[in-house]
Amino acid sequence: MSARGAAASPLAAAAGAPPLRIRRFNPEGFGFPRPAVPVRPWLRTDQLRRSAQAPGQALADAGRVVLPFAMGRYALQAALRASGVGPGTRVLAPAYHCRSMIDGALALGAEVAFYRVTPSLGVDLDHLQQLAAQRGRPVRAVIAAHSFGFGQSLQALLAWCAAQDVRLVEDCSHVLMHPAVPTGLGLAGDFGIASPNKFFPVEDGGLLWHQPQLAVQPADRSPSPLAELRGAWRTLQRARQGQAPAMPAAAPAALGHRPAATDALAAGDSESVCATPSDHFDEALARSRGQAGARWLAAHVDAPAMAAQRRRRYQQWLQAARQWPEVEALYPALPDAVVPYMVPLFLRSRVAERFEALKYARVPVGRWDDMAVSDCPVAGRYRLSLVHLPCHQAIDDTQMDWLLQAATHAMARLG
Ligand SMILES: Cc1ncc(COP(=O)(O)O)c(C=O)c1O
Repeated sequence: MSARGAAASPLAAAAGAPPLRIRRFNPEGFGFPRPAVPVRPWLRTDQLRRSAQAPGQALADAGRVVLPFAMGRYALQAALRASGVGPGTRVLAPAYHCRSMIDGALALGAEVAFYRVTPSLGVDLDHLQQLAAQRGRPVRAVIAAHSFGFGQSLQALLAWCAAQDVRLVEDCSHVLMHPAVPTGLGLAGDFGIASPNKFFPVEDGGLLWHQPQLAVQPADRSPSPLAELRGAWRTLQRARQGQAPAMPAAAPAALGHRPAATDALAAGDSESVCATPSDHFDEALARSRGQAGARWLAAHVDAPAMAAQRRRRYQQWLQAARQWPEVEALYPALPDAVVPYMVPLFLRSRVAERFEALKYARVPVGRWDDMAVSDCPVAGRYRLSLVHLPCHQAIDDTQMDWLLQAATHAMARLG
């Protein structure tokens, strides 16, 4: 373990990471209208409470060292660096991923190899072991995510990592971390990371926690007063946007024109080769602790009420989607401890048409369509056909009714 902890310089990093093939869906040219409701939660004062509880408190109580970062991606990078990841090393990441899950490894100059995932997005441990056994750069870390807030058992992976002297980074970016809402997740890995900006009405925020015997370089820069003010301003702007009665009377029919498909790629898709982080990774923020205002706000959100509301919205989407032809919930049951981040739905056929119909209907639908190419059949299928719908706590009943109707209308037309 002697090489662990060596920090990579940006130049070494640029030379270090072998290129990946990235396949990306480009929405330009489709003319998709703006979603009727913001995809991320906005501030609602009726969802705040007087007493404060920091999201990471339960982790600190469980003996972990908890550190603030500006975003989950920078927390992830710090965890990888502390695992000894740098030029000449390898990180194993899930084949179904968003770019911010691999940006940190690329920024450190490491090779990223993709292990296959199961249809429910669990780790295919056999494939992971095969990958690790391949000759090449030594594996220093494995990233495993609890996708959409649905926990996966990490016991077998943890045992394998311990036997191989490989660090496990438990990616809890889709998990609500809060002492008042125990999910049972976050304490399996050597490191854990979270992305409070996905659950709380804030502009930034990332968390890293680790076992106390491990050495981690904390983020040591605080945002300037101007950056704090800008963050507060954006929070208020987003709240105004979310509360504005902007629902159109009816969902518009298809508006745009689909660019032509090529032989190899679906319409809108392009492929590139890249060895550097995406444009959404800002090295200048990597050492930032994130906004103090955002931490204050997150600590004052009524987390149990948030969890209950997210669960309720999830069930409403499930019930509606049961009537939609050729659409299947990835997680048709909602176990008691789960606080969903989004609602993942699988489009079984006419994928492009169904996705576009939702987009033109102004439903805030997303998917991970900007992803490295791998040999994982599940990731290959899900990249375009697994869509994510929001179930966050700021959506009010009127907005939810509208969303359900708009989506149902769009889906029913495509039998
Ligand atoms: C699974 C997963 N991990 C990590 C991240 C990075 O989190 P952040 O956006 O806070 O940088 C994301 C963000 O989308 C994610 O979905």
